[in-house]
Amino acid sequence: MSADHAADHGQIIPPGGTIGILGGGQLGRMAAMAAARLGYRCHIYCPDEGAPASDVAAATTVAAYDDLHALERFARAVDVVTFEFENVPAEATEKLAALKPTRPAPRVLHLTQQRLREKNFLTAINVPTTRYLEVAHKEALPQAVQALGRPCVLKSASFGYDGKGQVRIDPETDLGSVWKAMGSELAILEAFVDFQREISVVIARGVDGAMELYVPVENQHRHHILDTTIAPARISAATAQKAEAIARHIAQEIKLVGLLGVEMFVTKAGDVLVNELAPRPHNSGHWTIDACLTSQFEQFIRAVCGLPLGSPERHSDAVMKNLLGDDVSHWKQILSEPGAKLHLYGKAEARSGRKMGHVTRLSPKTN
Ligand SMILES: Nc1ncnc2c1ncn2[C@@H]1O[C@H](COP(=O)(O)OP(=O)(O)OP(=O)(O)O)[C@@H](O)[C@H]1O
Ligand SMILES: [Mg+2]
Repeated sequence: MSADHAADHGQIIPPGGTIGILGGGQLGRMAAMAAARLGYRCHIYCPDEGAPASDVAAATTVAAYDDLHALERFARAVDVVTFEFENVPAEATEKLAALKPTRPAPRVLHLTQQRLREKNFLTAINVPTTRYLEVAHKEALPQAVQALGRPCVLKSASFGYDGKGQVRIDPETDLGSVWKAMGSELAILEAFVDFQREISVVIARGVDGAMELYVPVENQHRHHILDTTIAPARISAATAQKAEAIARHIAQEIKLVGLLGVEMFVTKAGDVLVNELAPRPHNSGHWTIDACLTSQFEQFIRAVCGLPLGSPERHSDAVMKNLLGDDVSHWKQILSEPGAKLHLYGKAEARSGRKMGHVTRLSPKTN
């Protein structure tokens, strides 16, 4: 049972109920669409007017993530609370969890919000990661770089996404400029992984502890942003089993209720190292909408509402490509392509690098 907060007794929220989602981006939008198909209403909480999720939700509260009065009103208006965005202050999640079942629990968000906490947790449960060190101030950087060796990567401990707050340190990099470029008070230094490929596993865990996971997929990044996901990943059965076992172990140890994206590196030696965790639907799981019996978004809603989990089985292989910035202007061409499924997020302004939509191209299942 997930009952580590007063309001959560592991209860089921039946169809007809209202799901509160913190965050108004495309993940919330696709979650709300899946929720609607199961007869739920979604109430979005986010700081911006006209967010992608609001367009398809029954209600929206526009307020800051630290507005405790607005959070309380929101909690009273919904039956269960979840997140599509994990950088919500601890006071906010504690406030919500005191009033309504909040899944995943504040503890899970707290752990995954900060890279050092996250990696220390993974280490404590014997999940392999790349070697890393805490760097608490600028003056400590040279010694840490010395200890891990170059190349290495300096990352801000909190609030990183799409490669923001990250600086790679190569043999010729001048350490003088690196700290400022990283731009934060507290950092983690990671040994650079010369990976063979990047993969991820999206796993769901229900209030009863039941787990279902999607086949490991392969992720290719461009300019630090996910560009393409290939499902399934082109890895050996042994590597896939390793990745799946790691995902199950983490979901169980973190007492997840909801969905978790586990990003991993496959090293040239075939080892699997965890890079980071995302306690919500994951960009590398978008292919499941078109290629699996249950999409990651439906699975997310099922897990959060205490419903039986659905089958994650895939009926097709898939390649998902993010449409970033101007890529979205090719919508007409994509629509005329057989086997291509277009998803647009309804964002007005196609700023460079902004996730505007994605396209999933299906092909017959191979194995
Ligand atoms: N230690 C490392 N060694 C090699 N490559 C790395 C390392 N850390 C990060 N990267 C590369 O940078 C990408 C983004 O890093 P990471 O996932 O830590 O950051 P993020 O900003 O949270 O990104 P996102 O939000 O897209 O997941 C990784 O997917 C990987 O390609
Ligand atoms: Mg990442």
